[in-house]
Amino acid sequence: MEAKGVESCNNNKSKANKMKRKEKLEKKKAMDELIKVASAEKNHLSAFRHYQKNGLSACLESGTGDKLSSSLKHYIQNLLKANMEGAYGTEWPVEEKVKRREMVASEARYIFVYEALDANASELLPMSEHEGTSASCVEERRSMLGFVHFRFVVEEDLPVLYVYELQLEPRAQGKGLGKFLMQLIELIAHKNHMGAVVLTVQKANLVAMNFYTSKMRYVISTISPSKVDPWLGTQKSYEILCKSFSNDAKAILEGP
Ligand SMILES: CC(C)(COP(=O)(O)OP(=O)(O)OC[C@H]1O[C@@H](n2cnc3c(N)ncnc32)[C@H](O)[C@@H]1OP(=O)(O)O)[C@@H](O)C(=O)NCCC(=O)NCCS
Repeated sequence: MEAKGVESCNNNKSKANKMKRKEKLEKKKAMDELIKVASAEKNHLSAFRHYQKNGLSACLESGTGDKLSSSLKHYIQNLLKANMEGAYGTEWPVEEKVKRREMVASEARYIFVYEALDANASELLPMSEHEGTSASCVEERRSMLGFVHFRFVVEEDLPVLYVYELQLEPRAQGKGLGKFLMQLIELIAHKNHMGAVVLTVQKANLVAMNFYTSKMRYVISTISPSKVDPWLGTQKSYEILCKSFSNDAKAILEGP
């Protein structure tokens, strides 16, 4: 009698484990599909392609890491060096190599910001309202003002949009463009059903840290070294920040 009871208990346990594994697999499959669909989208900028404010007139274009022209590669490398060498200090030579590899990955998605010739482009004007009032972005564009490199990835079993780089030319900084681009990134994340936007900031980059935490309301994530283990935090030169869009993501990435 007792043996039979134990057997049925074991059967129930294995059934429950099987269900759990099935649920986990289905969740993973759904998440992979979300990442696949989001990554397959060629142009995430359909609604917003122009920015005009504080004397800046900019025009946005999208791109991918595996289709960068050599002049764009050079541009990215030079701007990264000019903006980030100081914040990375002695870690820069190693980091520069990592960034060169990351730059051309097929998963890399880009927003390129060009100075627009057309000074009449309206601020945050949706493309549909803009059509017919000015030349296309390519025709308008002049020199570059910066770029965003982002990816759709899985972090802690959650689909997230990870901002790898947000880099603006010094002359384009402090004019609201960074805030606009991060708002656009959040829209793209939302639209593609990502649970959060995640990014990494060097602790020494006080302007960026202030920009993300005070202005954009990002918080230090539970996956940041300083939250995983305070001692580990002191050994690392960066923090991982996030902004969550769902209760699930908030619980996992921001903690209680
Ligand atoms: C960090 C960065 C992306 C911010 O973009 P930005 O366009 O300069 O910032 P914005 O003009 O949109 O600023 C948004 C807010 O931050 C504030 N801010 C911007 N630059 C600041 C600065 N240097 N000091 C203090 N506050 C600043 C602005 O006052 C603004 O607040 P407001 O909306 O109340 O006026 C940009 O400065 C940059 O590219 N820096 C160099 C590269 C870098 O560090 N990238 C981040 C790597 S993680």
